[in-house]
Amino acid sequence: MSLTLTRTDLIRSANFIAGQWQPGPAGALLPVTDPATGAVVTQVPDSGAAEARAALDAAHAAFPAWRKVPAKQRAAVIKRWNDLVLAHADDLGRLISLEQGKPLVEGKGEVAYAASYIEWFAEEATRMNGEVIPAPVPGRRMFALKEPVGVVAAITPWNFPAAMIARKIAPALAAGCTVVCKPAEDTPLTSLALVLLAHEAGVPPGVLNIVTASREKTPEVVDVWLDDSRVRKITFTGSTPVGKHLARRSADTLKKLSLELGGNAPFIVFEDADIGAAVEGFMAAKFRNGGQTCVCPNRVFVHAQVHDAFATQLAARVGALKVGPASDPASQIGPMINDRAVEKIERHVQDAIAKGAKVLTGGQRLTALGATYYAPTVLTRADATMACACEETFGPVAPLTVFTDEAEVIAAANDTPFGLAAYFYSQDVRRIWRVADALETGIVGINEGALAAEAAPFGGVKESGYGREGSTHGLEDYLHTKYVCQGGLD
Ligand code: SIN
Repeated sequence: MSLTLTRTDLIRSANFIAGQWQPGPAGALLPVTDPATGAVVTQVPDSGAAEARAALDAAHAAFPAWRKVPAKQRAAVIKRWNDLVLAHADDLGRLISLEQGKPLVEGKGEVAYAASYIEWFAEEATRMNGEVIPAPVPGRRMFALKEPVGVVAAITPWNFPAAMIARKIAPALAAGCTVVCKPAEDTPLTSLALVLLAHEAGVPPGVLNIVTASREKTPEVVDVWLDDSRVRKITFTGSTPVGKHLARRSADTLKKLSLELGGNAPFIVFEDADIGAAVEGFMAAKFRNGGQTCVCPNRVFVHAQVHDAFATQLAARVGALKVGPASDPASQIGPMINDRAVEKIERHVQDAIAKGAKVLTGGQRLTALGATYYAPTVLTRADATMACACEETFGPVAPLTVFTDEAEVIAAANDTPFGLAAYFYSQDVRRIWRVADALETGIVGINEGALAAEAAPFGGVKESGYGREGSTHGLEDYLHTKYVCQGGLD
């Protein structure tokens, strides 16, 4: 199957600043490659401080007018953006698969997922209700009004190049904020195409600006935004160390922050679970995007009574997964994003084997397919000393650990600095609420592996960050509350 786009002008090779496509610094270009082959798709600007500043100047200048646009009109613009995204779903799906590597069915699925956030926040724009507060003394009227925070800097990851942009930018625009955005260096093309469609939908010049940059130049871009008090909020999805850096560097100007950071999700199969359903849920949770999601299970705890049945069924399903490029419609697992990603997976599996884990299926690179492919893998006899239990593997590896006791497994599940998502399977209603209460994560899946939805608050606790994306909370993160009190009314 071809990954060629029908509308080829969706592939942009420039920054978008103040309503214009603009080149970056002379001669500084960042190649964007297809992770399946390493072939260069196109080149985008390798921007620096000058471009970051120009984008910020434009966003700052556009803010007073955009915040005054009535919510219903802002909603109409965002709704048109949603319509254009859906109208170009085939092309956008191909573009996601081309630069990110996920199978085409997932690329197109991501477009629908991204659009669901855009539509949701278009609707939420008209519901930014404040409060009328009963005054505690006579002669006063008291109000809590909702206002946009101001210019937002959005720094987005490579694993969902459409959805992560959508769930940051749509609520920002809905709230009346203006935006400067820096997409991940591996996947800038989807973001640029989405910005083009937002412009076509009627987002005014300066309201949405995007600059691309390499890993090396990104700090130069982001530092401009961190240092400038005109940026009032940073929204970031990515690693915990980078999230901490952004939090530290935002302190001088006390920016608002939404940080969606690393996870180390436990997946627990209790002895009373429906094993078929647990295998099904695990497949959905773990192998979406080849295991390259922050919410995918990283540690699998299976009760001794059901371990062998679960492991056997799981290994059969995982061993049957078809690995290949997005261009092959039969592919279920694509290439990993880059060499570093495969090296990390390989290191984790080798470390686990050296410490006593047993490979039920997979366990090696698929070099015949290319340099970035890794076989979907199930390991048993995993334990807490292994790298795969302490670090996010971010790949198609399922390490299984046996447990015998509920309290012991809850303690093990919570024994991590991270707290994004957790999953468990049980049919005992008392246990269900006991365990859901005890898990230290922002998201809990009970007998369900596919959790994310535009209407749900997505985000973590502990070192997985703070702030929520999606739902009504996802709009709140782009607003502040102004208390207004009128006196002398008696
Ligand atoms: C992520 O991996 O950061 C997001 C996954 C999702 O939206 O489900």
